[in-house]
Amino acid sequence: MTQQLRIQPSDRVEGLVTVPGDKSVSHRALMLGAIAQGTSRVTGFLPGEDCLATMAAVRAMGVEVVQHDATTIDVRGQGMRGLRAAGRALDMGNSGTAMRLFMGLLAAQPFDTELFGDESLSARPMERVARPLRQMGARIETTDGTPPVRIAGGGALRGIAFDMPVASAQVKSAVLLAGLYATGETSVNEPAVTRDHTERMLEWLGYPVRRSGTTVTVAGGGALVAAPIAVPGDLSSAAFMILAACLARTGELVIDHVGLNPTRTGILRILELMGADIRIEQSPGQAGEPVGRLVIRPRPLRGIDVPMDLVPLAIDEFPVIFVAGALANGETLIRGAGELRHKETDRIRVMAEGLRILGIDVEELPDGARIRGGRFRGGTVDSAGDHRVAMSFAVGAARAAGAVTIQDTANVATSFPGFAALARAIGLDVAVAGDD
Ligand code: S3P
Repeated sequence: MTQQLRIQPSDRVEGLVTVPGDKSVSHRALMLGAIAQGTSRVTGFLPGEDCLATMAAVRAMGVEVVQHDATTIDVRGQGMRGLRAAGRALDMGNSGTAMRLFMGLLAAQPFDTELFGDESLSARPMERVARPLRQMGARIETTDGTPPVRIAGGGALRGIAFDMPVASAQVKSAVLLAGLYATGETSVNEPAVTRDHTERMLEWLGYPVRRSGTTVTVAGGGALVAAPIAVPGDLSSAAFMILAACLARTGELVIDHVGLNPTRTGILRILELMGADIRIEQSPGQAGEPVGRLVIRPRPLRGIDVPMDLVPLAIDEFPVIFVAGALANGETLIRGAGELRHKETDRIRVMAEGLRILGIDVEELPDGARIRGGRFRGGTVDSAGDHRVAMSFAVGAARAAGAVTIQDTANVATSFPGFAALARAIGLDVAVAGDD
């Protein structure tokens, strides 16, 4: 039997908690730390499977990573030219971020690399990254557009001005990482603002980045200098707890020390538009990233038309937004979110199917969904192995009329180790069953 989450209804959510470290920032701390000069102490690191795949890959390329405890690591940077051939294909697990960012970084190295992933990652599009890298002179082959990806090293890269057709921080980051090694300037113009953790961490490690409107530019040939990196809590993980607190009948939840990068806070704005009671207290930033504390009190949500300009700023939170819409009063319309079909699963289809099983009326659209709010009934839904789908149904299930079982949930550990325990700590009745 694969792992399942079993949720019994509950009313109260309360507590003062922190959530595990930001996944995007943790990947970047390893990759940029690896090519910096000197040792970067990373605190608040996310020991989720995705970031552990990145850690194993940088180690395989000759970078020593000393793990002091689960969330504190030292990355002994080898400098811009210090990576070595791994001597084997590198396993990216379930992680699109690891694979796409490494494609950019490794396109510029003097050795060949092969990257592969699990079944879900093996179905995800990689040409969106390979194409601009080829324009820079990289020699990269995908397998019919998907992993495995083979990168031939040794070629010289030249800077390009890339007009990015999809709003993707992974594509942007891959091109910028290759740009560090290219001749001249590399710029990426994005169709909509996407998360800017790469730009911020480059700057934090002393690499000049020029930003103007929606264009980011780096010049090749610079160097990175090691620095302490304090990773904030992952707002994408906090989102499940935030929704749980919004939906509760009583209580108050405080989430401390969470990342509040404005390219990530779309979920807070969307929930506020739905009527949520969320107080945001900004603290001094860390490692170039804004952080703060959130105080959430229960309040009934209302359906909204989700503003399309918020979609890239909440791209990982749509499973949460589907559940919020499903349990709100009135109708919620999501459009302009076709990228959701290329995540760990086709999140539009998987969410619509699960919500219907729980009694919600959902119309699937090519780039979103129309959701008529109601109440969950008990039942069994399949997360299709998608961590964020599983956790979103779990927090919604706390407000169901009966017990809910969510199947195929082992991948929760890719981004949120300890999810069930933290959910229980704030008052949800979540049990883990049947590990495989
Ligand atoms: C990420 C970018 C986003 C996001 C992913 C993490 C990153 O992907 O969905 O979870 O760390 O750059 P896209 O770039 O495909 O939108």
